[in-house]
Amino acid sequence: MYQAPRGTSDILPQEQYYWRYVETKAANTCQLYGYERIDFPAFEDAGLFTRSIGAETDIVDKEMYTFEDRGGNKITLIPEGTASICRAYVEHGLHNLPQPVKLYYFASVFRYERPQAGRYRQHHQFGYEAIGDDDPALDAEVINMAWQLFQSLGIPRLSLILNSIGCKICRPGYLAVLKNYYANYVNELCSDCKTRLGRNPLRLLDCKNLSCQQIADVAPKSADYLCQECAEHFSQLKRYLGLLELPFVVNHRLVRGLDYYTRTVFEVQPEAEGSQSTIGGGGRYDNLIEELGGKPTPAIGFATGIERIILNLKSQQVLVPPLPKPEVFIAHLGNDARDEAIKLSFKLRQAGIGVIESTGSKSLKAQLRQANTLGVNHAVIIGDQEVKSGTVILRDMTNARQEAIPLARLEERLKQ
Ligand code: HAM
Repeated sequence: MYQAPRGTSDILPQEQYYWRYVETKAANTCQLYGYERIDFPAFEDAGLFTRSIGAETDIVDKEMYTFEDRGGNKITLIPEGTASICRAYVEHGLHNLPQPVKLYYFASVFRYERPQAGRYRQHHQFGYEAIGDDDPALDAEVINMAWQLFQSLGIPRLSLILNSIGCKICRPGYLAVLKNYYANYVNELCSDCKTRLGRNPLRLLDCKNLSCQQIADVAPKSADYLCQECAEHFSQLKRYLGLLELPFVVNHRLVRGLDYYTRTVFEVQPEAEGSQSTIGGGGRYDNLIEELGGKPTPAIGFATGIERIILNLKSQQVLVPPLPKPEVFIAHLGNDARDEAIKLSFKLRQAGIGVIESTGSKSLKAQLRQANTLGVNHAVIIGDQEVKSGTVILRDMTNARQEAIPLARLEERLKQ
């Protein structure tokens, strides 16, 4: 028996209402803020991600699905969406449009991780990017948009975590201070952190290991080492978030797991679980477009995992509306009745009434049982007798009451 590959899952019909709910709220939020949809390929040139996410990150180092295709090209299944959007921005000359260009996407994302609740090898992201402006008001918009999305989804008890990790100018100075600080604790660090210290010292700050966390808690803070421009940017952003009355908390240990970030980084986390199960995150990446061959272009964005949103909707018992479905079932007994049922189903659907038509040759009892299981409001029953008299039996499935009505009046009755 074949099974879905480890870390992937089928989204069965009974789960789909969660997905439509999230997708609709996300698309509505984008419309309110003036973001337009973009779609990009499920795979890209492998180099795009090494270049953007960074060779020293877990994603590039351990998690990418990279392979050589039959033409000898090195291909990677996308591990996130930001790099693809920046590639598309450069490739299609989107710098010629009025800036900032605001785009959103839904995409399947692939990361070879150890599967567990909320962590999969294929997951689905909703994300958006605002490219071409470094105004902190844009950071405030992007952060607010994420917060308002979760508000509109009705997910309570979330925290908004914020930090600034500086730019090309001030980051090297901060990293030197950080390395210096950690030099005193090398023997107490977990083995991962010992390696990270040489390769990617920022990542020591968000280590999940308890003893490393204690060391990180009192480590020097990036916000204290910002250059004047980054400091002003951060303080303006906090002021704007205050104007918007967003309940943000600055946490100096928030650094994010992708190397392209500059200045603003932020995450939305469930209050109870914290960073272990971050529901969404993003930040500024002012150098990325240039690194991918474009002109220097500041940008900021955010992405959230739809599976994690749905886990939260379920655990917080948020009421999600069901999807609309046909409300009429047509049951029939006898050959003439079957012909009539085929014509009637088509006629009703053309009139905009959803119909499930019985097929096969089940007994009436079995057909009504099926109608009941499907949860339709009405069953229309046709026997050869009804065909002769030009009537149908209309059965209210909620109270089992039924009546004979002329076939010609059925559409009008159902519409009522
Ligand atoms: P990220 O934090 O790597 O950021 O992923 C965004 C979200 O995707 C996470 O907060 C989480 O909800 C979900 N996610 C990540 N990995 C998994 C997984 N293995 N299983 C299930 N859900 C997962 C980015 O990808 C950046 N591109 C975000 C961004 C956009 N930054 C700027 N613009």
